[in-house]
Amino acid sequence: MLRKLILYTLLFLINFQINAESGHQLWLRFDKINPKTQFFSEINADQSLFAVKEFLRDWTEIIGKSPMMVNSLNDNILVIGTLKSKNIISFRLNNELNKLGVDGYVIKTVHQKNKTITVVAACDDKGLLYGVYHLLKIIQTNEFSTSLNISEKPSYSLRILDHWDNLDGSVERGYAGHSIFWRYGEKHPTVTDKDIDLWKEYGRANASIGINGTVLNNVNSSPNMLSEEYLKKVKAIAEVLRPFGIKVYLSINFASPAALGGLKTSDPLDKEVIKWWNIKVNEIYQSIPYFGGFLVKANSEGLPGPQDFGRTHAEGANMLADALKPYGGIVMWRAFVYNTGEKDRAKQAYSEFLPLDGKFRDNVIIQVKNGPIDFQPREPFSPLFGAMKKTSVMPELQITQEYLGQASQLVFLSPMWEECLQSDTYQKGKGSTVARCTDGSIYSQKYTAIAGVANVGLDSNWCGHQFAQANWYAFGRLAWNNGLTSDQIADEWLKLTFGNSQLKESKNTATNWNRNFLVPVKEMMLQSREAAVNYMMPLGIHHIFAGVHHYGPEPWFAPEGLRADWTPPYYHKADTIGIGFNRSHTGSNAVSQYHEPLCTQFDQLETCPEIYLLWFHHVSWTYKMKSGKTLWDELCYHYDSGLQQVRQFQKIWDQTEFFVDAQRFKEVQSKLRRQTRDAQIWKDACLLYFQTFSRLPIPYDIERPVQDLEDLKKIKLDMLQYN
Ligand code: GCU
Repeated sequence: MLRKLILYTLLFLINFQINAESGHQLWLRFDKINPKTQFFSEINADQSLFAVKEFLRDWTEIIGKSPMMVNSLNDNILVIGTLKSKNIISFRLNNELNKLGVDGYVIKTVHQKNKTITVVAACDDKGLLYGVYHLLKIIQTNEFSTSLNISEKPSYSLRILDHWDNLDGSVERGYAGHSIFWRYGEKHPTVTDKDIDLWKEYGRANASIGINGTVLNNVNSSPNMLSEEYLKKVKAIAEVLRPFGIKVYLSINFASPAALGGLKTSDPLDKEVIKWWNIKVNEIYQSIPYFGGFLVKANSEGLPGPQDFGRTHAEGANMLADALKPYGGIVMWRAFVYNTGEKDRAKQAYSEFLPLDGKFRDNVIIQVKNGPIDFQPREPFSPLFGAMKKTSVMPELQITQEYLGQASQLVFLSPMWEECLQSDTYQKGKGSTVARCTDGSIYSQKYTAIAGVANVGLDSNWCGHQFAQANWYAFGRLAWNNGLTSDQIADEWLKLTFGNSQLKESKNTATNWNRNFLVPVKEMMLQSREAAVNYMMPLGIHHIFAGVHHYGPEPWFAPEGLRADWTPPYYHKADTIGIGFNRSHTGSNAVSQYHEPLCTQFDQLETCPEIYLLWFHHVSWTYKMKSGKTLWDELCYHYDSGLQQVRQFQKIWDQTEFFVDAQRFKEVQSKLRRQTRDAQIWKDACLLYFQTFSRLPIPYDIERPVQDLEDLKKIKLDMLQYN
């Protein structure tokens, strides 16, 4: 009996071992690759470089033994180095590489004296790191050839992750466990070997997709961030991340001089305050010479800022910029502002910041959320993009899915970001896309930058949902190349993360894998954001989330005394006549913040794109849509189609069981079940609630609600509900 028990336990453990696949390796799965060819016979590399050490480490995992290193240039060899490396000099790459700049690199096949040589080269170690990771990606995705001719440089010079991590280890809008930087429940910061190992993995993952900056703490920043003990930990993190080409930045609290320094004021024009910041910045750079700078949320959602002292955002930002300038540091100043009592929150950032255009120092970048409100499932682009012509502007995207299903739902965000980046602002004629207005193609900016609010935590899979890793990946890829399509990004990510080199059984030939896994799963990813828009807030409806946690629907949420712009009725404005926020010239006139022809296009009901209809207009329930249906019917069909789409995702995923390890398969399966349940709640709650205004029947050919409105109101659908 005992023997049997031991045997079963052993069998269970072996089985668990085989199937245990937490997803912690992200898209870097070198030990899982089964190289079909030998690729290179030998390697000739400048081994003093960090990039080369990184490459050799991963390469050894791929081939399962130490590679053959040589100094000669033999046939079928891989050569890696920078312009300063002896082994690269003979290839005469100076002109090409200098044009690409610091982070650029080339990967080329060179045919020399009957020899085929693959060369990876960059100006410096940092660019080379991106180059070797690109080569590894090519190998991982089976795209290696002997006719490579790749040269790359990034769209933005600063590609930054913003962590909303609090010093107590919690993460604002974080759905993947506690902070990887600040320990939960710890009063005084400490650093352990385990922390260092994790930060290295984090650094490697970021470097592999080109991210080169990280803000270590929440924009709702504690003044303690700048205290000596926390700065010591910042130094420790910075030192681990530095070889990966990643600079650290901090979010600061504008009232730190008073709150931490004991001064009487934090007025940015006060001499003592200026001195305090100068000393603080100097202290930081003395210990962290490669520190990046500050991120500032000021006069927003109750946080202190220059306006508390009668000063402007420019005066506040410039004071900090002057302190950082001697060290090459920057200020990222957020334009996320809205005051209580404003008739239209969507207008405020533009009204407040546009008059300040040209008044900021050249090391200030204004950080603008993709849309005018707040990372909603769908918003038109913020009208500040392209409008601020004399100031550096950087897009802020949200990788963590605060408003898009958090870590419970599969929503691939790349299509949403692509939609924003490719939106034409018309600010400098046709083709002035948000991407081109921010990456230096149209306006000369000293710094070009883009930020994404991170979705990383201590969860074993880093992001809380296996597919949320794709959003981290997509952000990095778009920051590197803002012209990539979501299709390309999803394709790459799936190949790297679930690739056919990691298959369970021989039956899984590449064709099989492509047809039965890659194609349908990619399609599911590409549709997932539109599905979420459909079952949450189609046709331009926005911000009808449950108060506080922003997961489920509460279009009715309006507790007495709460500021109006924190309640859904402020945004949907449903009444017996119709639904939607009138931002046309007869309403708040937010349309006027857009350049022509958009201003007129958005202003007119007939020309306003239907995806933004209820964002810009209050429309009657019986209004005839382009499809010929009434607005009410169209709304019902959208909600229903969103739910049907998620049901379809379940079917797609269930058929992939054969291609995915057991753990990741089950996790995603279970999350999709929950997503369907919640999509049903979204649909029923919104339709039954809006029906109290429209008083029209839900079209009879669509599925009936399965719950009553009164019961739905009691649900309080939160991400943690079933966890
Ligand atoms: C949203 C979010 C907040 C966050 C804020 C910001 O409103 O809900 O948690 O602090 O954005 O971007 O500053």
